[in-house]
Amino acid sequence: MPKLKLKEIKIKIGKTRNKNLDSIINIENQITPFGMKKSQYADELLNPISHFYVVCIPKTDEVVGYVIFWMIEKLIEIHHIAVSPKYQKMGIGHALMKFILDQARQNEIPEIYLEVRKSNMGAIQFYQRFGFKKQGTRKEYYQNPVEDALIYKKKSKIQFREINTTFKNRSRDSDWGKNI
Ligand SMILES: CC(C)(COP(=O)(O)OP(=O)(O)OC[C@H]1O[C@@H](n2cnc3c(N)ncnc32)[C@H](O)[C@@H]1OP(=O)(O)O)[C@@H](O)C(=O)NCCC(=O)NCCS
Repeated sequence: MPKLKLKEIKIKIGKTRNKNLDSIINIENQITPFGMKKSQYADELLNPISHFYVVCIPKTDEVVGYVIFWMIEKLIEIHHIAVSPKYQKMGIGHALMKFILDQARQNEIPEIYLEVRKSNMGAIQFYQRFGFKKQGTRKEYYQNPVEDALIYKKKSKIQFREINTTFKNRSRDSDWGKNI
C-alpha cells in the first residue's frame, strides 16, 4: 500500500502533557531498544529549559511524533525527535524540524546543535537534509551499546525585528540619544 503524504493527513503540534507519555513510550519502544524511560520524559516536562512537543492526529488525538529541545540562552539543543514508524516518511519529521527552526527565528537564536549515534544513518540523512553540518565527534558518548556521538550544527536564519521609529529633527546632533 503506498504511504500517505502529509498533505493527505492533518496534524497538530502541541505541548506534551502527562497523559501523552504512555503513547510516547509505546513509539519509543518501537524505534529503539535504548530509548529514554518514562521517568526521564516526565522530568523533561518539569525542566524549565526543556521544550517538549507532540504531534497528534486532530480527529483521534493519536500521538504520532514528538520532539524535545532545550533553549539555553543563544542556542537550541535538539535532544530527541521521533516519528511513529507507521507515520515515517510522510513529512511529519519535516513539520517538527520546521517548528524548531521557527522557534529559533522567533527567539532570535542563531545556532541549533544536536548529537546523533554514528550508526543512525536515517537520522543523519534527515538532519543533513535540513542543512546540519558535522562539527565533530564525542568518543564513546552513548552507553548500551557504547557508541560515538556525532555533533551537528545549523545556523538559523534570524530575521531582525523591524523597529518603527520616526526620527524628528535629525539634523540636530543634540537630539540623538534622546527619547523622541
Ligand atoms: C528521523 C525521523 C524523525 C524522520 O522523520 P520522518 O517523518 O520520517 O521524516 P520526513 O518524512 O519528514 O522526511 C524529511 C526529509 O528527511 C529525509 N529522510 C527522512 N528519513 C530518512 C531516512 N531514514 N533516510 C534518508 N532520508 C530520510 C526524507 O527523505 C525527507 O527529505 P525530502 O524532504 O527531500 O523528501 C524518523 O525517521 C524517526 O523517528 N527515526 C527514529 C528516531 C530517531 O532516530 N531520531 C533521531 C534521534 S537523534
